[in-house]
Amino acid sequence: MANRKRIAVVPGDGIGKEVIPSAIEAVRASGADVEFTTFDWGADRYLHDGTTVPADGFQMLARDFDAILVGALGDPRVPTNLHAKEILLGMRFKMDLYANVRPVRLLDASLCPLKNATPEDVNFTVIRENTEGVYMDMGGNFKLGTPDEVATQEDINTRKGVERVIRFAFDYARAHGRGKVLMSDKANVMTYAGGLWQRVFKEVGKEYPDIQPQHMYVDALCLQMVREPRALEVIVTNNMFGDIITDLAAALQGGLGMAASGNIHPGRTSMFEPVHGSAPAIAGKNTANPMGAILTAAMMLAHLGLSAAARKIEDAVLAAVREKKTTVDVGGSMGTRECAAWIAERVAA
Ligand SMILES: NC(=O)c1ccc[n+]([C@@H]2O[C@H](COP(=O)([O-])OP(=O)(O)OC[C@H]3O[C@@H](n4cnc5c(N)ncnc54)[C@H](O)[C@@H]3O)[C@@H](O)[C@H]2O)c1
Repeated sequence: MANRKRIAVVPGDGIGKEVIPSAIEAVRASGADVEFTTFDWGADRYLHDGTTVPADGFQMLARDFDAILVGALGDPRVPTNLHAKEILLGMRFKMDLYANVRPVRLLDASLCPLKNATPEDVNFTVIRENTEGVYMDMGGNFKLGTPDEVATQEDINTRKGVERVIRFAFDYARAHGRGKVLMSDKANVMTYAGGLWQRVFKEVGKEYPDIQPQHMYVDALCLQMVREPRALEVIVTNNMFGDIITDLAAALQGGLGMAASGNIHPGRTSMFEPVHGSAPAIAGKNTANPMGAILTAAMMLAHLGLSAAARKIEDAVLAAVREKKTTVDVGGSMGTRECAAWIAERVAA
């Protein structure tokens, strides 16, 4: 009882409301000592009463919970996407969850679009800076809507922000038995921001003599991810490059429905979410792949120190993939609920 972990759950919109119950089912089956509290933050609530997050919402999450499990946010009825920005970017920015961790692991050769790729070929982790860069909404328009319009979008990189995420990547490599950290940027053209990343990477790397530091421009890295992903171990990069390369990475592991992520600030309440969005076109049809969300829940349990339960869930997902007990997007014929029930049963066994 004393060690029971308290999890805040925000299923959100669209398929978030289908895949999060699947993830909870798997966690319950694992026997992990956790308690879930669900919040209705999302488009329905926003359209009903105009609210997104209560006034003290983020403080409450940090104070009262050990972790947060989120589905997805985004709904065509809210074209401004305002509620999603306030809830999702609110958590990332206001709770200062500065490291977005995305493990890229191919569970079975059948899921990979690369010719002859095996699970040993695709097994790396991307650490994406999560609180800075071009996502800080700084910039503006001048002479808006005229032929002389000027638009600027600032790319913010602070010494503190760059240093802490690079240090996180080296610590992550050490903790996970990895021998290399590759920093990726575009310092050949983005010289000011890239220069800062390069200097800090060199400095911090010296503190980790057991880890080999590597560098690659982000365009070259995209080529490498397709040509020879086996060489990659831990990648650290800025917010936008991380956003882009992790979609490519998701394709290597079987698509968005398979990809998990954590938004982490060590020592603080962190947030875990599948990489995919709310997929409105397939929402409510019982066709969404629940495995990204289920693997996300396993990642959350491992982060909370519940490694045995996490492993049980990962093993069950691996079994589901091998035995084709999956949804259609990854080659099976099951619905979301049936796939989730099969996995939960395997976890419990
Ligand atoms: N973190 C988030 O909450 C997040 C991330 C990305 C997009 N979004 C939002 O989601 C909405 C839709 O965005 P999008 O279409 O660009 O991205 P999306 O990830 O929702 O969908 C992209 C494609 O992948 C498919 N897909 C996604 N998840 C799947 C799953 N679990 N199983 C099977 N197929 C799956 C979709 O059907 C679609 O074809 C938008 O409102 C967007 O802003 C939210």
